[in-house]
Amino acid sequence: MFKENLEARYYTESAIYRQEQAGIFNTSWQLIAPRSHFVEKGDYVATEIAGTKVFVVLDEDGKLRGFRNLCRHRGAMLLESGQGRCRSIRCPYHNWVYRLDGSLERAPWFTEDESLSLENWPLHSISVTLWRGLVFACLESGVALTHQLDGLLSEIEKDPIEEYHWAERRTLVFDANWKIYTDNFVEGYHIPGIHPEFFKAIDFEQFETTAGDNLVRMTAPTKGSLFYRGRWLWMWPNWTLSFFNGGMNTSRINPLGVDRTELIYDFYFADVSDAASDSRQETIQRNIAVIEQDFDICIHTHQNYLSGGYQPGPLSPRHEKGVHLFQELVKQHLPSTREVLPE
Ligand code: FES
Ligand SMILES: [Fe+2]
Repeated sequence: MFKENLEARYYTESAIYRQEQAGIFNTSWQLIAPRSHFVEKGDYVATEIAGTKVFVVLDEDGKLRGFRNLCRHRGAMLLESGQGRCRSIRCPYHNWVYRLDGSLERAPWFTEDESLSLENWPLHSISVTLWRGLVFACLESGVALTHQLDGLLSEIEKDPIEEYHWAERRTLVFDANWKIYTDNFVEGYHIPGIHPEFFKAIDFEQFETTAGDNLVRMTAPTKGSLFYRGRWLWMWPNWTLSFFNGGMNTSRINPLGVDRTELIYDFYFADVSDAASDSRQETIQRNIAVIEQDFDICIHTHQNYLSGGYQPGPLSPRHEKGVHLFQELVKQHLPSTREVLPE
């Protein structure tokens, strides 16, 4: 009668991970960076989407464009991961040069009589779109971004998220499957056990979770001086938005492999003055401390799933409806989860 957790193999099998890359990560919109990172032409952000290297760049005409971070010659990575500015995109391997619109400008030492047609070798483009100050990219044409965002559209309609200024990016890496971390994020059931200080600072009896429309919303009245504002949101397939006093953070839960995950956190504040610098740093540190408290439990759970002996347990109807929603969406997006072939 209870809903059950996913079987362990979903978290550990490489074949499932490959299906997730194809069925979830290649076809969904992924949060890349705030729009404010793209001011001058050539401003770029390079990152990965479940193992696929990509970058978004502002072209000569002021248009945001996205490409695979992959040279058409012999496949080298073009831009180092992170944020930067370039006049053109030069491959470090054999110096092919691409324009900001992705067209190939030069392939040195190919002679004229070899007649390489430069126009045949542009970068592979990906879709890019902007929503409320945030830039998203999609590897293959998927659903419309607003369709994917679904319940979030009305949820944060009145929150002035565009008015917050980006302050800092923090990337955190740990050895567990991305879904173990997501299962953890979308429930408050673990707060008493894993986050004792946080537990004391909220009215846990009134912790509420709603799940549906690609959104999990968790709220709790806060007590005393908790920096959080008592509302935490998760959006299908892999990003989050949490409000704290004077700002918010977003995160993207990005798999680096079947058993390794990075969290890409961006912190935004209303007040980015020098005078408020210490208080911003304190808020970031306190946020990060809570996030890191979840890593050990995720790492050890992953090891237990890997070792065998785990049969799916029951999910709490009150506290784990977000877990159920997420897991159902995962299953819907995998082609043949019943019959995953052995490695
Ligand atoms: S791989 Fe880029 S120029 Fe050779
Ligand atoms: Fe947690």
